[in-house]
Amino acid sequence: MTLLFCSSSDNANVWRAEIAKRLPGLEMRVWPDVGDPADIRMALVWKPPAGMLASLPNLSLIVSLGAGVEPLLEDPTLPDVPLVRMVSDGLTLDMAGYIAFQVLRWHRQMDDYAALQAQARWEPLDHGPASAVTVGILGLGELGTAAARTLRTMDYRVLGWSRSPKQVEGVESFSGPDGLAAMLAQTNTLVCLLPLTPDTQGILNAALFAALPAGAVVVNAARGRHLVEADLLAALDSGHLRGASLDVTVTEPLPPEHPFWRHPKIRITPHVAAVTHPSLSAAQVAEAVRAFRAGEPLPNLVDRKRGY
Ligand code: NAP
Ligand code: GLV
Repeated sequence: MTLLFCSSSDNANVWRAEIAKRLPGLEMRVWPDVGDPADIRMALVWKPPAGMLASLPNLSLIVSLGAGVEPLLEDPTLPDVPLVRMVSDGLTLDMAGYIAFQVLRWHRQMDDYAALQAQARWEPLDHGPASAVTVGILGLGELGTAAARTLRTMDYRVLGWSRSPKQVEGVESFSGPDGLAAMLAQTNTLVCLLPLTPDTQGILNAALFAALPAGAVVVNAARGRHLVEADLLAALDSGHLRGASLDVTVTEPLPPEHPFWRHPKIRITPHVAAVTHPSLSAAQVAEAVRAFRAGEPLPNLVDRKRGY
């Protein structure tokens, strides 16, 4: 059984070495050196060229190097074979750390201190306790739950919104449109960790911002298309929102002329909130391959109808 690796943003040699440690003897080819396409039974991919997977006649398993699978599901030629997504400690810890950092950055006014330092001004600013800050998380799945737990250890009040109600210790769970409205009304820092689906695209829009209390902050670490960018600019410029941290944007890389780069209330990172570290994630790939070969149920299988 041959595995085809295809990603322009992951190091194939590092992955080869990590996979060889766990699956000795497994042949791995690296796209575009496919050899005979009929040999390929499994593919390990991040954003493969549209139609590439459909060109492999015996493909029986797709493993996504990313947690979010909309780049695959949006390819109309995607073969109808099991699709496993990435769920690993590396991604989860990365994301929990990124969200904690962004919540602290706005709560503890770190950008204001950077501006004061630039003027050599030693000027303590008021900040309330973490318990006085309510963080609302859109998406209480693998990443949202990990972020919620980390924030709880720091004493932030944490609310979470998901399709189905959840039980996470110390976290109030909301679902449905009424639940969303109830959560937003109490949220000082809104974090988006939803998958991108037809239901969630554009969810960060003018109506949602208006439902947040004045002075709220938005953190988007999910996908750029969750956000209506013009609506964010309007909500920041009107003074309703205090700031935004964006790890993802509609167009990536963010074009140099985009207004987000120079906006005083926006902080940008280049889609690095959580990364699939080979050393921490190869075990999950190996487990998917093992289960596939053994004919056992596959871990972290994507529900294509649901879209995540
Ligand atoms: P996940 O485990 O599938 O969790 C998704 C959560 O969103 C679940 O709680 C789900 O509710 C909820 N949800 C989905 N559709 C919803 C809807 N229409 N209304 C309300 N809630 C909805 O996903 P994950 O592993 O946490 O990853 C989340 C996303 O993070 C990924 O899809 C990806 O886009 C993004 N991501 C970004 C980076 C980065 O570096 N920026 C890295 C990794 C992932 P139920 O539990 O009720 O189904
Ligand atoms: C990264 O964005 C991922 O989906 O893993």
